[in-house]
Amino acid sequence: MTAVDEIKARLDIVDIVSETVNLRHSGKNYTGFCPFHTNTKTPAFVVFPDTQTWRCFGQCNEGGDLFSFMMKREGWDFPETLRRLAERAGVTLQEFTPEQQEQAEENEHLREVLSKAVTFFQHQLRNTPAGKGALDYLHGRKLTDETIEVFALGYAPDSWDALTNYMISRDIPEADLIAAGLVSEREGGGVYDRFRHRLVIPIRDHRGRMAGFGGRVLRAEDVPKYLNSPKTELFDKGRLLYGLDMARREIRTKDEVVIVEGYLDVIGPYQAGFKNCVSPMGTALTEDQFRLIKRYSRRIVLALDPDAAGQKATLRGLETARQSMDREGDVMFDARGLMQVEGRLKADIRVTTLPDGLDPDEIALADPTQWESLVKNAKPVVIHVMETLAQREDFDDPKAKEEIANQVLPLIEDVKGSVEREAYRQRLARLLKVDERALVRRSSGYSPRPRRSYQPKPEVPPATRPSKGTSHRRLEEICIKAMLSDPTLIHYVDRAFREYELACLNVEDFSSTEYKEIFKLIKSSLDQDEETPIDFIRHHMPEALLDAFSDTSDEAEDYPDWRLQPKEPILEALLKSFLRLRRIRVDEGLDQLVFLQSQSTEAGEPALTDLNKVVMDYIRARARLDQALRQTAAHGT
Ligand code: UTP
Ligand code: MN
Repeated sequence: MTAVDEIKARLDIVDIVSETVNLRHSGKNYTGFCPFHTNTKTPAFVVFPDTQTWRCFGQCNEGGDLFSFMMKREGWDFPETLRRLAERAGVTLQEFTPEQQEQAEENEHLREVLSKAVTFFQHQLRNTPAGKGALDYLHGRKLTDETIEVFALGYAPDSWDALTNYMISRDIPEADLIAAGLVSEREGGGVYDRFRHRLVIPIRDHRGRMAGFGGRVLRAEDVPKYLNSPKTELFDKGRLLYGLDMARREIRTKDEVVIVEGYLDVIGPYQAGFKNCVSPMGTALTEDQFRLIKRYSRRIVLALDPDAAGQKATLRGLETARQSMDREGDVMFDARGLMQVEGRLKADIRVTTLPDGLDPDEIALADPTQWESLVKNAKPVVIHVMETLAQREDFDDPKAKEEIANQVLPLIEDVKGSVEREAYRQRLARLLKVDERALVRRSSGYSPRPRRSYQPKPEVPPATRPSKGTSHRRLEEICIKAMLSDPTLIHYVDRAFREYELACLNVEDFSSTEYKEIFKLIKSSLDQDEETPIDFIRHHMPEALLDAFSDTSDEAEDYPDWRLQPKEPILEALLKSFLRLRRIRVDEGLDQLVFLQSQSTEAGEPALTDLNKVVMDYIRARARLDQALRQTAAHGT
């Protein structure tokens, strides 16, 4: 139960409304004069205890739940209302602990420190004689000044204290430099610059916030070739991907991400117009990194250097991997690991092998079309492994065939789709020139690992008309979650609604105030340029709603991800759900009007003048909705 649910369960709308409105019990409902406009003739304000809602059938013709009533009565915004009602109901809201708050502020400060360092390094690169060598080096690698600027590349001077002094003169204490990973501590006390005579590459998180630096040598004899920031609160190599902040929009547009091996392999292709590349920072790819990417696209191409990391990594110790893979945590950058990630994340992972001795940055800058075709010709992991093995093994040797089968079959076993699996098996049989049945028999000799328990159950809105109350709320919840996982669904629903000549989606489609609030957020997230909708929502969601929201975040896998499924059926289901919600609302409205009509005649009060007109409006709306529902039914299944 979320905090909002808890509050609603503990407080009674009748009690609260009664504080300011003189309510009269009539039937199972309560009537009174609307507190939101002056009216002394007709008690057109009704509170419905069953649904814990209120409505004014008079001038304001508005209604809602406890939250909207308090917002209107007190002029509070939603977070304030939540706070006050939580207090009143004795519900503790999930808030940052003071420690978390402090850490968040500390991190913000460290980012500022790092940004100051970026400025310092940039200045060194552009404006100092010492930086000239680094600048020449970059130009020599065909990078333009614009690219250098865009990636905020810099130069760390050949000095033990240049950065430290600069920072101290700007009142940044040593402790902060240490925490930011910019300096190392001397044994006898004091600090010295970590990056010296290096090209420095700022590393940001996917939201573009500073996290650390990578520093490349400029003298061939210096080691290591790349020195990165140490692990800090902000810099965790396993959770960051270099270039994602720059690439994420293009990744989404192209619906494809290319994972390359190095910093400059991100930068080079970017300059050449391929802005969808990211790289890990010298470590094996982790599942965290795949999850990060998956938010933007599931089509992942690995551009591997042939001998170094490439084949070796791909084929490295399949057996070891096989054993370690069932553990959660790090995923090895090898075929088996990739297959598992692919299955778990429902991704489409492909591999392309680069020509010998060439890096993405060289290829993309020298021959963009070659880069394009390399990416386009990326092969599914299984095929890649087969082809790589085929190149080096002797096919006339039965033992070699056995060896290949031993390496490839476990991968095939991991393939989730049965058609895809069968296709690989056939292909392997052809490659080895053996009867496919031998492979089937052979493969059944492996005891396939039990499939991981994670089996997403697509949460398609229920087909039957739900009863009132909880399932109504459930239907709203399902709609909200679908839109949270893919805000663009709103566009599709609206388009369909326009075709049915219905009003576009709006806050009135939701009865709970918290869902109205979330809907508003989702809607404005679509207009954001700078942030992805999901990030925008995450940033702006009131804390207390986060618990309700968190099960749709990327971390929680118990929730089906609507983006994974084909769009059509989801849209269909969503459309129907919204139509049903509107239909329920119309029925509810009619019920309420009937109640109101009975009230006014009973009490001998003048009937509400346009009550009949309102009833007619409802009936017309109902007819339109029913027609739309029939149409969607005809379209779907
Ligand atoms: P490479 O050695 O392949 O370098 O390391 P590169 O990217 O081709 O660099 P250039 O083109 O020679 O400048 C690939 C990546 O591995 C990480 C870096 O992120 C690097 O970009 N790495 C490499 C380290 O973190 N430390 C190292 O010592 C070497
Ligand atoms: Mn390189």
